[in-house]
Amino acid sequence: IKNIAVLTSGGDAPGMNACIRAVVRTGVYYGKNMFGVIQGYQGLINNNIEAMNARSVSNIIHLGGTILKTARCLKFKEDAGMELAYQNLKAKGIDGLVVIGGDGTFTGAKRFAEKYDIKVIGVPGTIDNDLYGSDFTLGYDTAINTVIEAIDKIRDTADSHDRLFFIEVMGRDSGCIALRSAIASGAEAVLLPERETSLKELITKLKEGASTKKSSSIVIVSEGNKYGGAYDIAHAVKRKFKHYDTKVTILGHLQRGGSPSGFDRILGSRLGFAATKALIKGETLKMAGLHGNEIKLTNLADALNKNNYKLEDDLLEMTHVLSI
Ligand code: F6P
Repeated sequence: IKNIAVLTSGGDAPGMNACIRAVVRTGVYYGKNMFGVIQGYQGLINNNIEAMNARSVSNIIHLGGTILKTARCLKFKEDAGMELAYQNLKAKGIDGLVVIGGDGTFTGAKRFAEKYDIKVIGVPGTIDNDLYGSDFTLGYDTAINTVIEAIDKIRDTADSHDRLFFIEVMGRDSGCIALRSAIASGAEAVLLPERETSLKELITKLKEGASTKKSSSIVIVSEGNKYGGAYDIAHAVKRKFKHYDTKVTILGHLQRGGSPSGFDRILGSRLGFAATKALIKGETLKMAGLHGNEIKLTNLADALNKNNYKLEDDLLEMTHVLSI
């Protein structure tokens, strides 16, 4: 491996810049030519690829977002788009690629590395924390702290007004942000994509709380749950349970921004360092991930296999018990 490019793709996540910095500086340290791709796979197709050096990544470790920009690129899913991306990399002599992103990013990366002679290592960068092969994905810790801070503020006003709040959090098909933020903010209930808590159960739970003198309640709604968004659920609950004045807050994209936590800066640095070293050693089709306190490689195929990823039932049970 002589020339390595790095890109960020899919939803941005705090800590991506720390990771880009680690990739570029590790490559430079070991004598490689480094490149940054602007706008993920779209940038590969558009030939938006720039040389980078150690100074290109100065003063970014503390920044949210990604200096390389990101995109969700449909063209890369087509053979013609992939071929163009390959030709652009080849023309610059790039033979290794670090991709930082989530499951969509890795699906593209896997197909690409299987088809062409470019080695690819992934870094799990998504606030969703839904990839097998890393205890935590990059950005998740910052996102959950942002969510908890927001819920704390809502709790103040919910309590003052004796209100029931439905707070919608991100996580596409994953309830990880919802479940963990429900625990950390002491929410009364949580609706997750992975589990069916029926509206009947939810109303029973809220009624129990009201009967034991809970003056306000907070329900966390994961965006991917089967009953729809927080407004739909609030509406359905309000029709059957009028005890509280009901309000809705959708936290939305504020969950993806902000300065990365110390944890995410360190995780981004470690994963970027490990991914680049793995590429230099000749590894490909792997993802660098955190296992306990070690960084290990997992096959991209395993990281993407949704059967490997499990939500912890004990945490859901605990949320239920601790919110009586
Ligand atoms: O994958 C990260 C994520 O923030 C999901 O939680 C969410 O469903 C999605 O991205 C939103 O994507 P976009 O910013 O493209 O609307």
